[in-house]
Amino acid sequence: MKNKILVIHGPNLHLLGKREPEIYGNFTLDDINNSLHENISSEEFDIEIFQSNSEGDIVEKITKTSYDFLIINPAAYTHTSVAIRDALLGINKPTIEVHISNIFKREEFRKKSMISDVVLGVISGLGKHSYLLGLEAAMISLRKNK
Ligand code: DQA
Repeated sequence: MKNKILVIHGPNLHLLGKREPEIYGNFTLDDINNSLHENISSEEFDIEIFQSNSEGDIVEKITKTSYDFLIINPAAYTHTSVAIRDALLGINKPTIEVHISNIFKREEFRKKSMISDVVLGVISGLGKHSYLLGLEAAMISLRKNK
């Protein structure tokens, strides 16, 4: 059985490409997703990718899908969502938090993440490579636990 990696993109990430390009770059969500598909070792792992603007849908996805490793960019919910934090604690799967921008280099309110202290690691500020490094970390970690 292949291990499955779930990738969740939070609110407004469907706007990548048009959204504040000086902060988030010119690439689109499809570009990120295509790169994830290209870079995953598909003989070893399955991948599912999900985007939602709704906190409830993200909680449902985290808690009701079967997967072995989660890569999540909760976007604005990073800074506010006790519900997403509780879902991660409830399901207790290895998780990497990723951000396109460096959240520690921006407005004060972005410096606080509700989930950083309950995940395996955080990758922030490397543009679309944040996701690819998250994927690499997920594959290394899953291989180790085989
Ligand atoms: C983000 C950073 C968040 O502060 C912001 O609300 C986002 C995207 C990032 O990927 O850099 O929507 O998570």
